[in-house]
Amino acid sequence: MRILLTGKNGQLGRCFQDVLKDTNHELFAYGSAELNIADAQQVETIIQTVKPDILVNAAAYTAVDKAETDSENAYLVNATGPELLAKQTAALNIPLIHVSTDYVFDGAAVEPYLPTDPTNPQGVYGASKLAGELNLAAACEKYIILRTAWVFSEYGNNFVKTMVRLAKERDELSVVADQYGCPTYAGDLAKAILCICEQYEQSKPLAWGTYHYCGDTPTSWHGFARAIFALAKEQKVISTAPKLTAISSCQYPTPAKRPGYSVLDCESLDDIGLVKSDWTTSLNKVLLSV
Ligand SMILES: NC(=O)c1ccc[n+]([C@@H]2O[C@H](COP(=O)([O-])OP(=O)(O)OC[C@H]3O[C@@H](n4cnc5c(N)ncnc54)[C@H](OP(=O)(O)O)[C@@H]3O)[C@@H](O)[C@H]2O)c1
Repeated sequence: MRILLTGKNGQLGRCFQDVLKDTNHELFAYGSAELNIADAQQVETIIQTVKPDILVNAAAYTAVDKAETDSENAYLVNATGPELLAKQTAALNIPLIHVSTDYVFDGAAVEPYLPTDPTNPQGVYGASKLAGELNLAAACEKYIILRTAWVFSEYGNNFVKTMVRLAKERDELSVVADQYGCPTYAGDLAKAILCICEQYEQSKPLAWGTYHYCGDTPTSWHGFARAIFALAKEQKVISTAPKLTAISSCQYPTPAKRPGYSVLDCESLDDIGLVKSDWTTSLNKVLLSV
């Protein structure tokens, strides 16, 4: 099938291209320089020219803290962009797969969030992503919104790469231990998206709507760091693990407030055989290439 991908240079975009290499699908991949999703003219021209069978939007403004003072750009990419894509895909009757975030929730829950649970973003990034979800859903019918969380990969900037770098520079490190979520390997997310595309190709489409997909086994950032150091040491990526101290969010203030608990319930994807990704196994793989 002909798949149009936006955001090809991001973590998910690059992993999606890797996953597509082993398939017969035709991929039309664009970075922001060729396709700015907030530019109505570019969106129209490229979608009308490529006429894909399906569109995967991996483009987003993901600088969570910067968004607090750069909300105009965050909303342009995360809210206007998906709306423009949805209007064009609707016009051509093309399904749109869009990726959103656990940061649409406030984190006050004590059990995993269902896709239908009330949203209440705590910062501009989460609010702009939620606006994108709503705009998109209002503009087209054939859509899948896949909310994910704590994305890491061998590409770009992410927590895993930061921890490995810091482990090489420091003997001690303090990491927040009161925010809980599910690390998700972008390669596993890419495979999940491909699976959804292929379901559509085989005329067994998932019901349109919003779903969750993230890694298994919730942890805190502190727990994630501990796992990274243990595996990195085992694989000799680092010689010694820094002394790790658990701190609270109050001890590490950031411009954007993060949800304290943003574990996502992914069960609604069980029907098509998509189980949560095993992030420890994927972490092992990523550490071998950082
Ligand atoms: N990273 C996380 O921890 C996390 C957590 C939850 C959800 N998510 C969601 O998962 C998805 C993928 O995230 P990611 O980690 O792969 O993000 P990423 O690595 O930051 O990549 C985002 C890409 O979006 C592109 N982009 C930015 N503005 C654009 C525009 N106006 N038009 C077209 N492309 C634009 C950038 O392209 P260029 O490089 O070409 O400029 C960048 O490569 C996003 O929807 C994100 O909100 C991420």
